[in-house]
Amino acid sequence: MSAPILQVSGLRVAYGPITAVDGVDLEVGRGEFVGIIGSNGAGKSSTMRAVAGVLAPVGGSIHFDGTEVAGRKSHEMVAMGLAMVPEGRMIFGDQTVRENLMLGAYTRLARRDPDVVDDLEEVLELFPRLRERLDQLGGSLSGGEQQMLAVARGLLSRPKLLVVDELSLGLAPKILDLLFPILAKLNAGGLSILLVEQMASYALAVTQRTYVMENGRIRFSGPSADLARDDRVLDAYLGRRHDA
Ligand SMILES: Nc1ncnc2c1ncn2[C@@H]1O[C@H](COP(=O)(O)OP(=O)(O)OP(=O)(O)O)[C@@H](O)[C@H]1O
Ligand SMILES: [Mg+2]
Repeated sequence: MSAPILQVSGLRVAYGPITAVDGVDLEVGRGEFVGIIGSNGAGKSSTMRAVAGVLAPVGGSIHFDGTEVAGRKSHEMVAMGLAMVPEGRMIFGDQTVRENLMLGAYTRLARRDPDVVDDLEEVLELFPRLRERLDQLGGSLSGGEQQMLAVARGLLSRPKLLVVDELSLGLAPKILDLLFPILAKLNAGGLSILLVEQMASYALAVTQRTYVMENGRIRFSGPSADLARDDRVLDAYLGRRHDA
């Protein structure tokens, strides 16, 4: 068995006096699609920000692709092969779709990686709507199209691990039925993915394994198919009514 692409242990993240992540252990195997579900304020985004180098953790270790990376900056993580699709997407509204995409390939363009052109083509095959809108401003896209752009931008760094924070945020079921299978397809092609998601039913359907996070900690975890039938998940995250 090869070592996991990501191994997090004892992770602690704080904002001043507020502890947001209080000793989290999790791992993503190579080629695995792993989910984190949990309610508002559970610490999911804080965990993701620490993993992606957006925030320095106050404790614990983060092993990525065989290297200890806790405290490394996000641009270093991108260069090492970890791309994040952040909560809220963070599209540059006053730049074109093409410019937004090229920002994802920034470190590769800097070292004149010749494969960027082919990768752009591949990403546009995956998201044909972006091809039609390459010269349009990012801010003029619909929410669903902006999420496609955010995922496509992440892919253009050619990551080994893609971390996605709330793919579903603010999007209609019709768009979600289009976006989640794309993540599944990328995973089937070999990409390791860590997905944070409030829409537990969607996450459990596409991921192989899931961690349930509450109050800064992992409460339990297991194969997604098992958790989808677990009373603790049904009651708290899949909206099962006690009087049903
Ligand atoms: N920039 C910040 N400054 C201070 N506290 C913060 C900040 N960001 C998050 N927190 C706090 O950290 C805790 C965890 O927040 P986090 O955003 O990681 O949760 P989450 O699980 O992603 O929630 P959501 O589902 O709403 O996105 C919360 O108590 C939150 O109020
Ligand atoms: Mg969040």
